[in-house]
Amino acid sequence: MMFSALSLGLMAGLTVAAPTPTINEVAEVDKRATITDTPIGYASQNGGTTGGAGGTTTTVSTYAQFTAAVSGSDAKVVVVSGPITKTADQVKVGSNTSIIGASSSVVFTGFGLLVKSATNVIIRNIGVAKVLAANGDAIGVQKSTNVWIDHVDVSSDQDHDKDYYDGLIDLTHAADFVTVSNSYIHDHWKASLVGHSDSNSAEDTGHLRVTYHNNYWNNIHSRGPSLRFGTGHIFNNYYNEVVDGINTRDGAQVLVESNTFVGSTSPLYSTDDGYAVANDNDFGDGSNDALAGALTTVPYEYTLLGSAAVKVAVVGTAGNTLTF
Ligand SMILES: *[C@@H]1O[C@H](CO)[C@@H](O)[C@H](O)[C@H]1NC(C)=O
Repeated sequence: MMFSALSLGLMAGLTVAAPTPTINEVAEVDKRATITDTPIGYASQNGGTTGGAGGTTTTVSTYAQFTAAVSGSDAKVVVVSGPITKTADQVKVGSNTSIIGASSSVVFTGFGLLVKSATNVIIRNIGVAKVLAANGDAIGVQKSTNVWIDHVDVSSDQDHDKDYYDGLIDLTHAADFVTVSNSYIHDHWKASLVGHSDSNSAEDTGHLRVTYHNNYWNNIHSRGPSLRFGTGHIFNNYYNEVVDGINTRDGAQVLVESNTFVGSTSPLYSTDDGYAVANDNDFGDGSNDALAGALTTVPYEYTLLGSAAVKVAVVGTAGNTLTF
């Protein structure tokens, strides 16, 4: 990603010497986005994730308009123009859909998104806040493949008991080929669950292939993420005051690289035979307590920033900060 602007410049015939990009220059390039952007990580696999690129574009500003616009499987880009507040059920998102927040003011308060039995979905530049447990997760992905969640800002608060809200980003029921990137995940008890139950092995085993990269996790109690059965690649994340961080469980294999944790009690740990391979992480005052794993490579290209560089790269850039 960091070389894309340089490559374009060279294709246009510029012959300037290529400077070594600094972290700040990388962040600026990342903030400009188009509807044809594609993910890295597991969402780039299995044919890739393009969302509604090439389809119709609809701009919406109400819950009813939004719900109608994201239904069905036709290729469609749904641009949300402003904040929407409503205590309501999750909005079900159909296949071949891109949801784009037009600006950082686009926050859904009181309702979330559910990608269920769908494929090829992109959710970008959206905030989701304070979804009560009775109304589901802020963002849920179930029985779905090829989902890219990018530059979202998901949060609630820790002022209530831990079950007052459900998950922020929960990937369950054999969800597969999912990337969560450049997102601000904060102020919550149980942030991100991959695989919802110890007894769901039959459905989940062989699925739940997920990538989390360049996210800022802040003031979270647990699940950063918690991963059962699946395969997780977690790199370039910055964790601030996340008590229990990455929990690998029930045979899950995770590759954990180039992350920094400040103030974590358990930054990386196993439950019920979960496994991890860890490279270049700064665990702060905590340590890697996970069982040694087997996931040493992933089937796509990616760039490691190095644990010493992730704070500067991620804080202030992660979240719904994009300009289209
Ligand atoms: C998504 O779009 C592609 C291309 O138009 C189409 O072949 C496919 O059937 C669509 N997916 C679903 C689930 O309808």
